[in-house]
Amino acid sequence: MAPRPLHSRVLLCGALAASMSVLVTAPALSAEASCPQTDTGIVLPKGFCASVFADKIGHARQIAVAPNGTVFVNTWSGVYYNNDTPPDGGFLVALKDMDGDGRAEHVERFGQTFADGGKGGTGVYLYKDWVYAELNDKIVRYALKDDEITPTGNAEVVLSGMPITGDHPMHPFIIDTDGNLFVSMGSATNACELKNRMPQSKGHDPCTELEARAGIWRYDANKLGQVFSPKERYASGNRNPEGFDFDEAGRIFVTQHGRDQLHENWPKLYTAEQGFNLPAEEVTVLKEGAAYGWPKCYYDDQQKKLVLGPEYGGDGGKAVGDCDKAEPPVAAFPAHWAPNDLKIYKSEDFPAGYRGGAFIAFHGSWNRAPGPQGGYNVVFQPLKDGKPSGDWIVFADGFAGVHKDPGRAAHRPSGLAVGPYGALYVSDDKAGRIWRITYEGDPDAKGIEAAPAPKQSAAASPGALPPEGVHPDAGNAPKLPVPEGATQAQVDLGAKVFAGEVGGATCAGCHGTGGIGTPVGPDLTTGKWLWGDGSLKSITDTIANGVPEPKQHPGAMPPMGGVELSKDDAAAVSAYVWALGH
Ligand code: HEC
Repeated sequence: MAPRPLHSRVLLCGALAASMSVLVTAPALSAEASCPQTDTGIVLPKGFCASVFADKIGHARQIAVAPNGTVFVNTWSGVYYNNDTPPDGGFLVALKDMDGDGRAEHVERFGQTFADGGKGGTGVYLYKDWVYAELNDKIVRYALKDDEITPTGNAEVVLSGMPITGDHPMHPFIIDTDGNLFVSMGSATNACELKNRMPQSKGHDPCTELEARAGIWRYDANKLGQVFSPKERYASGNRNPEGFDFDEAGRIFVTQHGRDQLHENWPKLYTAEQGFNLPAEEVTVLKEGAAYGWPKCYYDDQQKKLVLGPEYGGDGGKAVGDCDKAEPPVAAFPAHWAPNDLKIYKSEDFPAGYRGGAFIAFHGSWNRAPGPQGGYNVVFQPLKDGKPSGDWIVFADGFAGVHKDPGRAAHRPSGLAVGPYGALYVSDDKAGRIWRITYEGDPDAKGIEAAPAPKQSAAASPGALPPEGVHPDAGNAPKLPVPEGATQAQVDLGAKVFAGEVGGATCAGCHGTGGIGTPVGPDLTTGKWLWGDGSLKSITDTIANGVPEPKQHPGAMPPMGGVELSKDDAAAVSAYVWALGH
């Protein structure tokens, strides 16, 4: 291993000694006060400190840290980010802290650029002397030479031809010491429906999508020029596996995003509340040949079992069908939190309670509307012998800031990595921030401890609310224009329908509060329309019919947003959407 770099202990020891001497004279001083940076935007348990290692580097997805401390980040672009323009230069970023202050001074982009027609990717991993990265439909690698921080050589193609259509075009991966490259092919659909995400659409049976999607494929990391095919499938029935890591016994843990829209598409079987609390997000252990249940089954954490989904004859959660033959998760988490990465903590730098457990980055939900959204945090799950050995805690929180929804969240946790000397890195694919988290407290501390509540969401205190209040239309509804043939009262009612306060629709879940857009639904305030001419009639038609095949977004918009809106509510929300765009 490379010599311990300047930034790890030399300076930290100084800081630690200083803070300890302060503690001796003033024991009441909070741990936070001993952290050099206090404006990082996140909260952590006592004894932990964060620094903003890098910022605004693009839609930062997964990360990997070399033994010499260089942090490699993959960034992405495209429909998940409203097709915005990524930063100039390559999608991959090499970051290095040159002077030990916890921030990267060396920030250099490499690899394919947007100008070259690239889209970037999610997965990145270090194996031998190579940086492996997902790029569009490929996994490529760059040689890491001793004297370079940023690789300068050309990309070599390890694997090409991965499917990149549909709802989950991302391909996170992991490589074991024998060079087995396990790579995720997310599902193209929500639950293999005949019509993706449309109300009461049955599932394809058999679901042929499984031949090339919703599973984990195995390739050889040491072999160039491999081409994706259904043959190399290693495990199946994983809807959208994103976070991978080994534990010390060599087991591979994989996160799994549960399906969406149980209530919206099956209102007779699931109440709105069941819809936002079901199904659980999962952590599974990867086994060759295993089937994890998608698309027929989903995991119900209350009943602690896989049950039959409504697309395959399920009755709202009692019927099990063949789901008892599928591989259940080893750990489960609240619905729709979106576990985008997982890292097992094998270092000894955090207190002993963290050893061997999993940090999980939750990207945050949209499908809990009209209930409050959740996630937007990093959770710690203690593990022993491949199973949970205690309750999970929220380890890092506050990423979203004031607004926990995908459109307005300040940051969304996306990738995790543990660096040399035990620092935990967290990436954010909203604003492109990377945090570096270290432990500066009592080295003999026992147990684990949750982060305090983030200051921003101490929304119980009225003073902490934004000027327009939490009512999404409070500030802007009166100023909205009224379309011909509609009334102000309709526009006002429409704002409530849109926000999910009336009628149970989840428009704002996909289109963002006030229609400002999210990764899964377009901005409705620009005055430009993807469907129709922007007239009240064309907007009304789009809302009534839905959008089964979006032009610029993943997923689909079900008719009426997936609920049965009354005629009045439908007319009102159409008038409101017209008003938003005019
Ligand atoms: C599951 C996510 C989702 C929900 C819920 C949803 N939408 Fe959509 N909406 C979309 C997508 C995706 C599109 C199509 C975007 C594209 O083509 O790229 C769309 C398109 C639209 C459009 C057309 C926009 C244009 O540019 O022409 C309107 C209007 C609209 N939605 C209104 C609503 C309203 C009102 C509701 C609630 C009753 C709603 N949506 C619920 C995802 C959603």
